[in-house]
Amino acid sequence: MPATCVIGLQWGDEAKGKIVDLLTERHDIVVRYQGGANAGHTVVTGDQTYKLSLIPSGIFRPRVQCVVAGGVVLNPAGILEEIDALVARGVQVGDNLMLSDRAHVIFPWHFEEDRLIDQQCTSGEAIGTTLRGIGPCYRDKVGRSFAVRLGDMYRYDFHDRIVQIVQAKNHILAGLGSGEDVHLDAVEIFQQYQQYAQRLKPHVADTTAYLLDAVEAGKNVLFEGAQGALLDIDHGTFPFVTSSNSSGVGVSAGSGVPGCYVTKVIGIVKAYTTRVGGGPFPTEQDNDVGQHIRDRGNEYGTVTRRPRRCGWFDAVAARYTARLSGVDVLAVMLLDVPSQLPELKICTAYEVGGRRTTDFPSHVDDLRRVVPVYETMPGWQEEISHVRRIADLPQKARNYLDRISELVGRPVEVVSVGADREQTMFAEPKPS
Ligand code: IMO
Ligand code: MG
Repeated sequence: MPATCVIGLQWGDEAKGKIVDLLTERHDIVVRYQGGANAGHTVVTGDQTYKLSLIPSGIFRPRVQCVVAGGVVLNPAGILEEIDALVARGVQVGDNLMLSDRAHVIFPWHFEEDRLIDQQCTSGEAIGTTLRGIGPCYRDKVGRSFAVRLGDMYRYDFHDRIVQIVQAKNHILAGLGSGEDVHLDAVEIFQQYQQYAQRLKPHVADTTAYLLDAVEAGKNVLFEGAQGALLDIDHGTFPFVTSSNSSGVGVSAGSGVPGCYVTKVIGIVKAYTTRVGGGPFPTEQDNDVGQHIRDRGNEYGTVTRRPRRCGWFDAVAARYTARLSGVDVLAVMLLDVPSQLPELKICTAYEVGGRRTTDFPSHVDDLRRVVPVYETMPGWQEEISHVRRIADLPQKARNYLDRISELVGRPVEVVSVGADREQTMFAEPKPS
């Protein structure tokens, strides 16, 4: 079974890092293939908690090769900081980390553009980006003229490219800056990025070739999706999305590995829904229920510490993204969080102009107008974070899982009741 994918089915933060960490035991290679340091993946091992942004969650097992593929946008300072922090805590980061020479590089102008543009341009409501330069870097990738790939930093014309781009970017930033004086210094940026390039050099490789060789040789590859499918640039809640294909459709484009090698897709959902940043969220609970979830789930952004918006499980959205991503099985995370609520609601359909539908609208204005149709289920009062077998969960919790599975149309294979590796239950048989 060569390739497995882990994909978030909501608006990100579904605890993908935990599942990837567990699955790495049975994989030779873990690949990040889209997004960048807008991701915040938490891995807990024993009494240690690690926060990863760019480095694949397989890094804690030295035998596993970690690959940052070409579809990722990479901030060199950020990844070096992440490497240093891991090494300082005794985690091995050497040949086991490979960075694609095709990955696009984030520069200081991308941070400036992210800040200046998100404030101005989304007709009323800001996207509320993570301000990591992600959108501007992908914009330059698609625009091509101002793009720099990791491999370009080692070429003879790197200096001249920087001078040329900085000149253009200073004009663009002056136009965007509404009176703010943002001036970038080409010499300073070149010198800084040359230093980054030297430090990153041992990790830089043609990861497309490496991964194609690996899948053809039958190696077990795990693809670690970042963000969630509802944030997919093409199929998510546009324009309140991220700038990459964060649903299952992004795996091939981002990694260079054809879809035919992917033999299993695991869709990750929380037992409820969260969203951070702007955009519609039909099942949002801006009330005591939302606060209960936020408090118990510590629902504050890993990257930006913003309080996350919280709400009921939206089965219409999850069914849509499970189909879109080719999901085989579900992992339901944070089931311990909605404990102690008297009742739980699941959104089973949307009402649009008096008509019921289970289709997910393609336009964000239509999504804003839907009225969620809820099914109410009795909650369970017991704490369940100590439970280690699905069969030992309270009957009401099992009913809740069964209903999610039925509505999304996929079996639940994994249930998590806490951040620790131990707090994970598998339906029989165990996932391969
Ligand atoms: P992980 O991998 C949750 C959201 C931002 C914003 C929108 C666009 O931890 O699940 P961007 O900086 O990407 O241009 O911001 O996308 N967003 C995430 N939300 N989890 C993430 O990653 C996210 N990455 C981006 O909040 O609404
Ligand atoms: Mg996150």
